[in-house]
Amino acid sequence: MSEAYYREALKHPIFKKLSDTAGELSLETYVIGGFVRDFFLGRNQKKDIDIVAVGSGIALAEKLAASLPGAPKVAVYRNFGTAMVRHGELELEFVGARKESYSRDSRKPAVEDGSLDDDQKRRDFTINALALSLNREDYGRLLDPFGGMDDLEAGVIRTPLDPKETYSDDPLRMIRAIRFAAQLGFRIERDSFNAIASQHERIRIVSPERIVEELNKILLTDTPSVGLGLLYKTGLMDHILPELSALQGIEEKEGQRHKDNFWHTLEVVDNISKKTDDLWLRWAALLHDIGKAPTKRFDKKIGWTFHSHEFVGSKMVYKIFKRLRLPLNDKMKFVRKMVMMSSRPVGLSNDSVTDSAVRRLIFDAGDDVDDLMTLCEADITTKNPRKQERYLKNFGLVRQKIAEVEERDRIRNFQPPVSGEEIMAAFGLQPSREIGVIKDAIKEAILEGEIPNEAGAAWEYMLGKGRSMGLHPVPGARTHKNESDEGAP
Ligand code: CTP
Repeated sequence: MSEAYYREALKHPIFKKLSDTAGELSLETYVIGGFVRDFFLGRNQKKDIDIVAVGSGIALAEKLAASLPGAPKVAVYRNFGTAMVRHGELELEFVGARKESYSRDSRKPAVEDGSLDDDQKRRDFTINALALSLNREDYGRLLDPFGGMDDLEAGVIRTPLDPKETYSDDPLRMIRAIRFAAQLGFRIERDSFNAIASQHERIRIVSPERIVEELNKILLTDTPSVGLGLLYKTGLMDHILPELSALQGIEEKEGQRHKDNFWHTLEVVDNISKKTDDLWLRWAALLHDIGKAPTKRFDKKIGWTFHSHEFVGSKMVYKIFKRLRLPLNDKMKFVRKMVMMSSRPVGLSNDSVTDSAVRRLIFDAGDDVDDLMTLCEADITTKNPRKQERYLKNFGLVRQKIAEVEERDRIRNFQPPVSGEEIMAAFGLQPSREIGVIKDAIKEAILEGEIPNEAGAAWEYMLGKGRSMGLHPVPGARTHKNESDEGAP
């Protein structure tokens, strides 16, 4: 077999330097993994580069770092036998070639020194086991003992060893297989697929953080339904997001059917992915109907119902985020709010959209109102082109109305035009329930369109409301704040 050399992959000067350093230490050294794979795929070159040395990867890292300008620090992970050196924008990861053996209940292998071949065998996929030599005598030679190049060409995800073994050793690889298939547009070879499907429950030994890292990558692909569908078909989804699996299926009673909310959800995620790269808006699409399984009922008169599924779903968002160790900060709140409000614009999208309903929508959604509209538009999955056009047109009208009302009334990020302190001063009140009642009445009057969103009108309204509650304005406090502020420094 003729040997192929790929020196152009190693054109960055760091590789020559590595080669010289390894030569001085008489260490056989290779670049391996994602960097090599992505070079052959012509993808953007990765900034993290995996280096394997037959011997001590740590010694190589230390000697290399000492010879680099500024002698960067070496991060050494003795427990793992690995080291990391930053060089400019590159992150060089070093490891000694190793054999690994796994026990059934852990992803942490027992490790012993091995050859390059041993090291390639322990890797997840043939396309990730490709290695390029950094040794002086065969610099740039490709070492591909498992047919990784053929698999790259054919677009196949295959394991170097028996897939049952590779996935059982490290069950995270089951999701990685799906993630790579989704990212690269590859197919998972049949034995691999079957091995995943037959041991999907082993994903339980993987930490939620690692699972979510892969799940997020799947969600960020161009067509997330590919990866999400594979997660479902292999059975992995039942462990990762059982709430989503529970949406699958169509039930029929008395001749009435509801749609399959699982496959519908995947379509919604694909639709929204054409409009946004925002991970959290994609999460919102993924979870928007999550409350439909627990709220599904059949009513003899009206058929299938999912009453309050938005509210129930929004409660589920927190639990899901917590379980998957997703951030419980603004991101979670955003997704929860999107799920909670996901049906609101639908209720508005007929001819009789009132200004007050639009004002309330803007008030409740705040700055997220555009994202909410994007979600609603993505939610249209009807295959009837006439209906699709009608729904889109209606949402277009809602968007237009939002712009008009917003321009006029500035409800987004609503700030009460009269503050609690001003109400207290106006009626000589101590902090009390009445202040909340008056503030609320002012807000309602603005949202209903009874008064404009302005301080003067709000002040007059406040006085009237207070009087109707039996309160008496303090003499001299009868001016609204803009007037009383006049002349203030
Ligand atoms: N690897 C593995 N099993 C895993 C994770 C990683 O065998 N569960 C190996 C693969 O050879 C992989 C290399 O370690 O190529 C580096 O892993 P990582 O940086 O996670 O992935 P990359 O392949 O570099 O690709 P990406 O950055 O897209 O994740």
